[in-house]
Amino acid sequence: EQIEKGGFDHFMLKEIYEQPKAINDTYRGRLLREDAIIKMAGVEDNMKKFLNANRFIIVACGTSWHAGLVAEYIFEDLARIPVEVEYASEFRYRNPIITEKDVVIAISQSGETADTLAAIKLAKSKGAFVFGVCNVVGSSIARETDAGAYTHAGPEIGVASTKAFTTQITVLTLIALRLARAKGTISSSDFRHYLLELEMIPKKVEKALKADAHIKEIAYIYKDVSNFLYLGRGYNFPVALEGALKLKEISYIHAEGYPAAEMKHGPIALIDENMPIVVIATKTGHYDKVVSNIQEIKSRKGKIIGIVTEGDVTVRELADHVIEVPDTLESLTPLLTTIPLQLLSYYIAVMLGKNVDQPRNLAKSVTVE
Ligand code: G6P
Repeated sequence: EQIEKGGFDHFMLKEIYEQPKAINDTYRGRLLREDAIIKMAGVEDNMKKFLNANRFIIVACGTSWHAGLVAEYIFEDLARIPVEVEYASEFRYRNPIITEKDVVIAISQSGETADTLAAIKLAKSKGAFVFGVCNVVGSSIARETDAGAYTHAGPEIGVASTKAFTTQITVLTLIALRLARAKGTISSSDFRHYLLELEMIPKKVEKALKADAHIKEIAYIYKDVSNFLYLGRGYNFPVALEGALKLKEISYIHAEGYPAAEMKHGPIALIDENMPIVVIATKTGHYDKVVSNIQEIKSRKGKIIGIVTEGDVTVRELADHVIEVPDTLESLTPLLTTIPLQLLSYYIAVMLGKNVDQPRNLAKSVTVE
């Protein structure tokens, strides 16, 4: 097992560090920048179904559901397709309205999650076209879906999902861009720009990982608190949810993720000098609004850990700590802002002596309801 961990203390840390390569493996052979095209067989072969769809329904559980939420922003923004994102477990039991004009996208790392599989079967029985985004090749979901795209993240052993999440977002971004090009909702120059930016993501993830030692120091300061709050807006709202989930899963500290603007409708009541609040405040995407949320937190003496774009000045002045990530297009920021949140939860859990790779009560794949 030590050999399999490749010199890392845990599979989770190894998998966090594998992300530059995993993301690269995800778009390799699909993103052809010189020719300015994206090529994915599962999408090309079913282009008509995608383009004629009234809406996309994304079904997933856990971290994969968070990737689905990011995809909702990307599909609507780039390809102008209405998207609904559903917990598979809720969707399957509420007599949902599904027609032959719906495209259902099922996202699952393991490809074995019982609720997601059941949601797929239901959608198929109503005549919808079902597309799978799975990591495990030949898994039940990969076989049950009409078509699909693998994430190619490689085996993920740690129960808390890391590289599966960022590679799911990568695949979904590729699909959204391909459809946007086919629909003409993105100009060819913007499309080329996207391809260029996507290709730079692995290097930027490597850079984000360099904050490791700094994040470890922050983890040490907050490891003994009982509650954490995570805030983000737009593309980074799902990242806030995912950051909170990671902390809960492996450190057993209670954490909530919220859209930053919703803070005033509840979570603000929790804020005092004992509450650390992780705020994703990158330059692109509602920066000024997030900065005013940070001011509101500060006036209530909450402890602020800001995830900011390199070179940020404003948040640095207001926050107790900042963690920098490289600049990129707004829609690609989740691929970078997720990294420090993974490391933060990892180090807190390790410092608390928890079983990081196999947290209590959790399973890597949930094959029962
Ligand atoms: C379990 C795992 C999570 C995962 C979820 C969905 O709860 O512990 O990490 O996100 O299942 O799994 P899937 O394999 O469908 O992505």
